[in-house]
Amino acid sequence: MLRCVRAEDWDERYVGDRQWSAEPNRLIAALLADLPPGDAVDLAAGEGRHALWLAGLGWRVTAVDFSGAGLARGQEQPGADAVEWVRADVLGWAALPASLDLVLVAYLHVPQEDTRELLRRAVGWLRPGGRLLVLGHDVENVQSGVGGPQDPAILHSVERLAPVAALLDVDRLAQVPRETPAGTALDTLLWGRRPASGVGPRR
Ligand SMILES: C[S@@+](CC[C@H](N)C(=O)[O-])C[C@H]1O[C@@H](n2cnc3c(N)ncnc32)[C@H](O)[C@@H]1O
Repeated sequence: MLRCVRAEDWDERYVGDRQWSAEPNRLIAALLADLPPGDAVDLAAGEGRHALWLAGLGWRVTAVDFSGAGLARGQEQPGADAVEWVRADVLGWAALPASLDLVLVAYLHVPQEDTRELLRRAVGWLRPGGRLLVLGHDVENVQSGVGGPQDPAILHSVERLAPVAALLDVDRLAQVPRETPAGTALDTLLWGRRPASGVGPRR
């Protein structure tokens, strides 16, 4: 069972070849491409493909990851100077309350309770109307999809992300297919906004 939750494990992976495409995930790109740029955090940014892409669109981006090797790969890329790179465990890191227009969390897989606690905190970093985008491997991907971590305890599902969705005005919470050369992978998407009421996220 593959369970990469330590920075050292990720450093070892990143020392070899580039792990993921330099291009942003297609669904993430489709959702974010037309938003007006603002302040964003890419949590578990890895090699920085999304942080670099967002910075290229004019976003002020902070990329947080606990793998120094992953961040170093991103820092070598063109446009890297426009991104603020932070080496930290996202489970302990925090942005200022109500300081962000976007929190992006792509393919971060930690135990469910940690995921929920992190995402609850992340909602508090959003300005009213600010966006949370979570995309990662769905738990059903183990049985019915391809690739990704095989430990169900660290994967997403609509049901698992529902408590976080309850804090947001939700545009989409769904299992989504992702075509890969090896076949169809199953991801979970949470895409929502911090309520603009000014009274804070819904409970
Ligand atoms: C599958 S990669 C995804 C990278 C990037 N989000 C992307 O989509 O290309 C997962 C990343 O999560 C990072 N990660 C896992 N647990 C973490 C933690 N507790 N704190 C910071 N980074 C973490 C790993 O170092 C790795 O870079």
